[in-house]
Amino acid sequence: MEQARARNFVYKDQIVSVGFGAPELEEMESTLTLADDTVLHFRPISPADEDMIRDLFYSYSEETVLHRFFRHVPAMPHEDLQKLIEVDYSKDMILVAIAPQGAGEMIVAVGRYHIQPATGAAEVAFSMRDDWQRKGIGTHLFRQLIEIARNRGVTTFVAEVMVDNVGMINLFHKCALGPVQSILQDGAYHFSFDLPPSVVARESR
Ligand SMILES: CC(C)(COP(=O)(O)OP(=O)(O)OC[C@H]1O[C@@H](n2cnc3c(N)ncnc32)[C@H](O)[C@@H]1OP(=O)(O)O)[C@@H](O)C(=O)NCCC(=O)NCCS
Repeated sequence: MEQARARNFVYKDQIVSVGFGAPELEEMESTLTLADDTVLHFRPISPADEDMIRDLFYSYSEETVLHRFFRHVPAMPHEDLQKLIEVDYSKDMILVAIAPQGAGEMIVAVGRYHIQPATGAAEVAFSMRDDWQRKGIGTHLFRQLIEIARNRGVTTFVAEVMVDNVGMINLFHKCALGPVQSILQDGAYHFSFDLPPSVVARESR
């Protein structure tokens, strides 16, 4: 991180994420070829991604902002972006999907899970550029996150989803590895599923 700061790859006041640079993070990289032959690269988020995450945020429609943050978010200043990309890699995870853009690249989607301290369940959330939705990216991200969390002993996944968010409702049910339980409260579904015992037993052998 000191080298990255010195070379201006990250901000001088960059928050240091716990576990960044651990070798296991490289094993979480993957690729996905879309129907139009675009090849996406998936990897854990990096502190150097802040500018691309800012671009991603400002590409969102108002509906995507509401579905992701449950409120109107007019701006995403540096301090808030830092919180958005900060992750304790030793227990939580944020994956980004990167697409080619001209001679460079852009982040088109983010998928994350956070381990709830009280329950140990992994709470998932996703967001992606509006014009990259419904291409299978959410499915790939969710399956990758499940795999990572499962290898770390997580047995339950949860999500808070607004009632009108048909995309996320479908995504959660499609990727769930067990029966989905849902509780409707204050205009949002609380979804959860447990990994089937056979999967958990196999992983812990
Ligand atoms: C919700 C979201 C993550 C889904 O990701 P995605 O990449 O579009 O999902 P996929 O393309 O993998 O589709 C998964 C399934 O959901 C369905 N689906 C996705 N969006 C849909 C929509 N708007 N309406 C109906 N079905 C939809 C797909 O058809 C697919 O089902 P299928 O394989 O049976 O056809 C994405 O649309 C998004 O980022 N939305 C804005 C932010 C948000 O809602 N985040 C979730 C907060 S928890």
